[in-house]
Amino acid sequence: MNVLEVANVSKSYGGIVALNGCSLNVAEGQIAGLIGPNGSGKTTLFNVMTGYEKVDGGTVTFAGRPITNAKPDTIFGMGVGRTFQLTRIFPRLTVIENMHVAVQRQGMLGLLSRWSSSGEHQRALELLDFVGISRLKSLPAGNLSYGQKKLLEFAFILIANPKVILLDEPAGGVNPAMINVLAGRIRELNRQGITFLVVEHNMEFVMNLCHHVTVMHRGTPIAAGRPAEVRQNPAVLEAYLGD
Ligand SMILES: Nc1ncnc2c1ncn2[C@@H]1O[C@H](COP(=O)(O)OP(=O)(O)O)[C@@H](O)[C@H]1O
Ligand SMILES: [Mg+2]
Repeated sequence: MNVLEVANVSKSYGGIVALNGCSLNVAEGQIAGLIGPNGSGKTTLFNVMTGYEKVDGGTVTFAGRPITNAKPDTIFGMGVGRTFQLTRIFPRLTVIENMHVAVQRQGMLGLLSRWSSSGEHQRALELLDFVGISRLKSLPAGNLSYGQKKLLEFAFILIANPKVILLDEPAGGVNPAMINVLAGRIRELNRQGITFLVVEHNMEFVMNLCHHVTVMHRGTPIAAGRPAEVRQNPAVLEAYLGD
């Protein structure tokens, strides 16, 4: 079953075509990868899948329900979590305070009524521990390294127990040891049933982690398949060399 379906989606900014009749399915239970040269439309695709941009045409479906042009909070509340290429944490709040904001965001969506506040705190700490940054909990989030901020943002979205997680360049600027931690955590969550769609330029990370990879070029997929197949596809090599 496909948990996410993008069908024939187009999106332009003035004269710039970001998505050009783009179709892509994400199968439930997969760690799917999305690669492609800079400007090929990967982030725009995430934005239309999560309600941050409206489509010019085409449809987006989550678990069989239409979500085309739905609001970000609606889509988030349905179980689609995402991170941003440039993290969106609150720099003046401490790490644990950021997690409490995540809890409150859930509370506003009415999903957390079953949690006691001490339970929420415990869960926030567990998630910080899970991504390996609980020792930093009292630091202002703005003081974290770039990679640590990305891990905080990852913990932030896990608060909501998403069914699907979209990660936009999670390994960019993250040191190699932390990249390994991140890959391990993604695999662990995937074993627990979470589906992933990961945009990433680090080819080793993508090729080792993903079950299936789609290659974007000029706003539409040009190849898809198992990592080893995609890697050898001449059209893929040409797309990268040509841009
Ligand atoms: N908000 C925006 N305003 C204008 N142009 C944009 C905007 N977002 C993306 N684009 C353009 O759309 C194209 C696709 O961008 P993007 O989706 O960010 O690519 P990628 O994530 O693959 O690098 C690029 O040409 C980019 O400059
Ligand atoms: Mg991008």
